[in-house]
Amino acid sequence: MRILGIETSCDETAIAVLEVKDKSKPRFRILSNVIASQAKLHAKYGGVYPSLAKREHEKNLPVVLERALKEAGEKTDLAQSVLSPSSHKPAIDAIAITHGPGLDPCLWTGVEFAKDLANKWNVPLVPIDHMEGHLLVGLLQQTNKNDKFQMTNAKTTFPAIALLVSGGHSQLVLMKGIGKYKVIGETRDDAAGECFDKTARVLGLPYPGGPAIAAAAAKIRSTKSEIRIQLPRPMMHTKDYDFSFSGLKTAVLYDYQSRPKKIQKSQEYIRAMAKEIQQAIIDVLIAKTLRAAYEYNAKSIVLGGGVAANRELRRQLRYNIQDTKYPPTGDLPKGDKILVAPPELCTDNGLMPALAGFFNLSKKKHGEALNRIAAKPNLRLN
Ligand code: KG4
Ligand code: ZN
Repeated sequence: MRILGIETSCDETAIAVLEVKDKSKPRFRILSNVIASQAKLHAKYGGVYPSLAKREHEKNLPVVLERALKEAGEKTDLAQSVLSPSSHKPAIDAIAITHGPGLDPCLWTGVEFAKDLANKWNVPLVPIDHMEGHLLVGLLQQTNKNDKFQMTNAKTTFPAIALLVSGGHSQLVLMKGIGKYKVIGETRDDAAGECFDKTARVLGLPYPGGPAIAAAAAKIRSTKSEIRIQLPRPMMHTKDYDFSFSGLKTAVLYDYQSRPKKIQKSQEYIRAMAKEIQQAIIDVLIAKTLRAAYEYNAKSIVLGGGVAANRELRRQLRYNIQDTKYPPTGDLPKGDKILVAPPELCTDNGLMPALAGFFNLSKKKHGEALNRIAAKPNLRLN
């Protein structure tokens, strides 16, 4: 079967076509995964501007759909929109739409678009939790045939602890299987990605802040810098699994304001600060994730969300798991205990809802009645 996944919860308009063979032991092939990013547009506001994002989604959706279908091998006639009444129905068996959590106007744009398509093609529509999408792409493993994927082996994966870190969320999730989730901790204020974005803005780095801070931090060559910065690691040693990143943002602002103008603008300061911000966030995320993995006897750790694209976070988590006093149990080879998608699949994309759509469709069989599907900006994984 073929599932079309649509994602518009924030500032990416994304559509993917996923082919699934053998439903009982599914094998997946990503036929297309098209993303129109609005990051440049929002850069001047230092964050996503919801009404502008909605307008862009409306503009982008038909174009991204045409491209996604075309790349999946459909003979769409670009001169004649697939949305026009006389166009033929593509070989799509179901549609999956992210209906939350996210920005209300953005979610609604995607939901309405998906409903129209489902109606027109007479296929089921499955509403998807954005965070489940982030989670499940981490479980995709490439098979020996390069373009094919399957899910990780359930026996050696679950129970798993998932760290989901994006622009809007930072959560630790206990996962007992696909569809069996319990949020055991989350941020009490800013999300990890939001902290990257806001502190980047203080330093005059572009939006999105995560990749900009990672790039600045990576440029440090000498360890002999005169500039010493020590940021706090908020809630790192508290007994719960919650996070708090707003204090970190304030600490960055105070340090910045305490420096002479010349230093504030210097590459040396910006890079040193970027490195310390990144490290402070990583230290807290890793400490809590490993403790959760230990306390819940996790067999693996799943990493998902835009911040999971951060190479230092991936590297240091892999490194720390080797000789930590909190090693997850199970008999997987060490490197395999951390499950994470390639960086380009960690940030928002249409494959996320398409994949989650497959598992939710098999659960509910026929998707939900169209008129009951609504955007749910505060949807919670549980
Ligand atoms: O999951 P995502 O694409 O969108 C939301 O669901 O929010 O995550 C976007 C967030 C942004 O805050 C961005 O700064 C952060 O992920 N991000 C990164 C990296 N790439 C994206 N943070 C740290 N390092 C990265 N390489
Ligand atoms: Zn996301």
